Amino acid sequence: MTRIERVGVVGAGTMGSGIAEVCAKAGFPTTVIESAPEFLETGRIRIESSMAKAVDRGRLDAADRDAAWARLGFDTDVSALSDADLVVEAISEDRTAKFGLFARLDEVTPAHAILASNTSSIPIIELGMATGRPRQVIGVHFFNPAVVQKLVEVIPSTVTENAVTATVRDFVGERLGKTAVVTADRAGFVVNRLLIPYLLQSIELLDSGVNTAAEIDTAMKLGCAHPMGPLELCDLIGLDIVAGVADVLFEEFHERHYAAPPLLRRLVAAGHLGRKSGVGFHDYS
Ligand SMILES: NC(=O)c1ccc[n+]([C@@H]2O[C@H](COP(=O)([O-])OP(=O)(O)OC[C@H]3O[C@@H](n4cnc5c(N)ncnc54)[C@H](O)[C@@H]3O)[C@@H](O)[C@H]2O)c1
Repeated sequence: MTRIERVGVVGAGTMGSGIAEVCAKAGFPTTVIESAPEFLETGRIRIESSMAKAVDRGRLDAADRDAAWARLGFDTDVSALSDADLVVEAISEDRTAKFGLFARLDEVTPAHAILASNTSSIPIIELGMATGRPRQVIGVHFFNPAVVQKLVEVIPSTVTENAVTATVRDFVGERLGKTAVVTADRAGFVVNRLLIPYLLQSIELLDSGVNTAAEIDTAMKLGCAHPMGPLELCDLIGLDIVAGVADVLFEEFHERHYAAPPLLRRLVAAGHLGRKSGVGFHDYS
């Protein structure tokens, strides 16, 4: 069984920077890879400010921050991962780019290394088949923000070795202090497969004219003790992202409850994407 001592994270955007921070704080020497020096610098600053915020808020000792920071390395060349035991890929959700990266990781990492992807929608088996070691390729789906959210979905493909799944589940659960849920290589895994139909139904209810957005959100917050109503949650996630995930689910299962409703399509077309654009189902301007 592979013993994980050194970690690589490829992609230092929203997710990769959070995942690298979590790994470094958990005690792992972690090498962060970006595609260009300016993106690497942005990622480095993102991690530095996130740790500084944790220290300011009393969630992290300054000494622990310094130790975690010292475990981080930054590079623009994937061959810096030649001693990694586990690589977590968190680059943009682009099939061609991910397939190319997995092929390259297969060349530069040691034969025993496990190659993991944070992909939200690309089948893990397809990433595995881009390498010569599909039995050592697995999904690790962190949630945003990775530093805060407790869940990590662990997704073995059809051919992932059981020992690899066990190693990654233990790494996530025992070493990173997250909760791992192992699930199948099917679109949406557990969370999005259940969440997306609920969000789409709330949009259909709104479009039916029976209830306002405020009524729908209030009902679910107070009736089900959800911290946020479904339409507020759509606004937080981004309406374009909700529609994109729904499309992936619909393409996989061809089920009506994954079909993005017309109102969602029209709002996306209008550029009403939620919080990030200032207006979605609610107005943030
Ligand atoms: N944002 C989320 O809420 C979320 C949640 C779970 C999973 N994901 C998944 O995580 C992955 C990353 O998403 P994100 O939101 O962090 O994206 P992002 O756009 O914030 O970051 C992606 C980073 O990858 C870098 N990159 C692109 N190609 C690269 C390459 N070949 N080598 C090195 N770096 C490269 C980009 O420069 C960018 O900094 C995606 O697969 C996404 O589906 C995202």
